[in-house]
Amino acid sequence: MKLLIADDEFIARKTLSSMLTKEGFDCQVVENGDDAFEILTKAGAPNIAILDWQMPGLNGIDIIKRLRESTEGYVYCILLTGKSNPEDIAIGFAAGADDFLTKPPDLSLIRQKLNVAKRIMKYEANEKLMKEELAKYAASMKKIAEERAVQLVHADRMVTIGTLVAGVAHEINNPTTFISVNAQTLEQYWSVLKEVFNICPKDHPNYEKLMFIAEETPQVLQGILSGTKRINSIVSGLKSFSRQDKPKSEPYDIHKSIDTALELCVSVLKHNVKVEKKYFPDMPQLTGDSQKIEQVLVNLFTNAVDAMAGTKSAQLTIGTDYRETTSIIFVQDNGPGLTDEAMKRIWDPFFTTKPVGKGTGLGMSISAGIIEGHNGTLKVKNRPEGGAEFVISLPVNE
Ligand SMILES: Nc1ncnc2c1ncn2[C@@H]1O[C@H](COP(=O)(O)OP(=O)(O)OP(=O)(O)O)[C@@H](O)[C@H]1O
Ligand SMILES: [Mg+2]
Repeated sequence: MKLLIADDEFIARKTLSSMLTKEGFDCQVVENGDDAFEILTKAGAPNIAILDWQMPGLNGIDIIKRLRESTEGYVYCILLTGKSNPEDIAIGFAAGADDFLTKPPDLSLIRQKLNVAKRIMKYEANEKLMKEELAKYAASMKKIAEERAVQLVHADRMVTIGTLVAGVAHEINNPTTFISVNAQTLEQYWSVLKEVFNICPKDHPNYEKLMFIAEETPQVLQGILSGTKRINSIVSGLKSFSRQDKPKSEPYDIHKSIDTALELCVSVLKHNVKVEKKYFPDMPQLTGDSQKIEQVLVNLFTNAVDAMAGTKSAQLTIGTDYRETTSIIFVQDNGPGLTDEAMKRIWDPFFTTKPVGKGTGLGMSISAGIIEGHNGTLKVKNRPEGGAEFVISLPVNE
């Protein structure tokens, strides 16, 4: 154990240091108070010190007082003094000394006093360790509490939004169904009614007007029907966004799902997009709801195609990999990549950079929910060579 001896008397410090070295202490010896204080306040300093009361520079009492003001590691201080009357001893203790020794020191007494010092410093070290552990534990608890609070607020908000959205979707569904059913009926009526227009005599006072109506009506009906189709697709998006049911859990082949999703996207992909597949040869089967996974892939493919609208030699690369117990699916495009804002908000429901009427901004938030429901992760990054890359990780339960 390290120990500091500070005494300006050569004989006294020599005797003490040789006695205590023999006792197994690692002794450091100084002859004035300033040096003693400097050593005791450095990192790795001895934590027991025998300090002479009277010394050049800082005296023993000054050193102890200063050490007690500092919050650094505790030093057990034994005051060495020729003074033995009770008032002096009381002054020493009042300054913060832990013990005192009268000169000339007696070996057996020093031994006992140092045993006490060692014991106390052991407690001190244990307490310090415990405090550190406690502080670490408190910090990690604080972090967990903060994370949980954020998760709870988010979950609460999502439940509220989900309930609201499900209600609105339901309300919109009914009138939309009337409109589309009535429009279809009107289309059937029109197929009969248009014959009347064909036999209208040219000298009819409203001939021109009637011909115009005859020409326009099919387009008007088509407009109504495509409008209701669009409302239906938004409503079904809202419904799957707000649905909180558990996905199916069946074995499926991810490569088949990718192929199915590509087939579903065939009409959007034909716009000069080259598709490259890089499939991992021995991919194990995955467990989950293959239809939902296909929905995610369709969302990723359509987004990639939309992003590559202005890209020459557009290329969509879909690959798979298998690492330990995780199956990886990556979807890369060579479009412009995501803007900083899109990178931050891509998972927010209703975030879209597409023109009004084109995107609902629900694709990615629904997809993230589906992958989360499969205990997986969906991440996005911009590729250094340009374009975006989406990576789905799904656990494989063998
Ligand atoms: N591959 C991509 N490259 C660049 N930006 C992308 C890509 N995929 C998504 N984004 C950005 O993220 C936004 C949100 O995508 P998301 O699929 O959620 O909605 P959307 O495609 O706009 O609408 P929806 O999918 O509902 O029709 C997009 O509008 C686009 O700005
Ligand atoms: Mg989309």
